[in-house]
Amino acid sequence: MPVPDIIAIDGPAASGKSTIGKKLADELGFLFFDTGVMYRAVTWAALSAGVDLDDEAEITRLAQTADIDILPPTVPDGRNCDILLDGKDITWEIRQGEVDRNVSLVSAYRGVRTALSNQQRRIGLRGRVVMVGRDIGTDVMPEAPLKIYLVASAEERARRRWVEQHQRGGGAGYPEILAAIHARDEFDSTRAVSPLRPAPDAVIVDTDQMTVDEVFDKVWALVREMERS
Ligand code: DC
Repeated sequence: MPVPDIIAIDGPAASGKSTIGKKLADELGFLFFDTGVMYRAVTWAALSAGVDLDDEAEITRLAQTADIDILPPTVPDGRNCDILLDGKDITWEIRQGEVDRNVSLVSAYRGVRTALSNQQRRIGLRGRVVMVGRDIGTDVMPEAPLKIYLVASAEERARRRWVEQHQRGGGAGYPEILAAIHARDEFDSTRAVSPLRPAPDAVIVDTDQMTVDEVFDKVWALVREMERS
């Protein structure tokens, strides 16, 4: 079998999906597609337009009409890509604490998921893509020949987020980050539509005691193993 041309990486918040997915995509010359940015963009759009986040119909309408674009990075400030909403660069805005706190609610709405996952699937079907999210292996691209599910304890994930935010200068305290991760885990895994869970044929990689390089080596070995089979 050739290199699998759709690779799905799922897992909870801050489990290292984006870091590993980006590295893998660069190594293979594939598109890196972090689907979480689409849910974040809709959440940011709703917050900045002052839409009531409990108004499912209005948020769904926003998801159906928002023009979200994901392009190669144009600013060398650590970003993986440029995220545009209706032409405006919102790459860092979607990482704000207020988006973090509300994105799980927005991404639980059925209409929002349908609108965004249809767009994601269209991009995924072009192939040569590493797709990162919560439901790529289970719902968006169940045919992906390689599905990876990254896990780590909430404490380790909060530690990594804390380091990441402080490297960028600022961010919340560790207890606050840990509480937010627990809240998002709970919300993402108990929602009625496409809850966070590994696909039956996903390879689960527990990254708790591993460095980024070790996780990458493990994932790279899985790609090569599939190529040989
Ligand atoms: O990976 P992230 O933290 O940027 O994702 C933000 C939120 O979006 C997350 O809380 C759950 C949701 N999400 C989702 O439901 N399905 C995806 N495929 C990607 C993200």
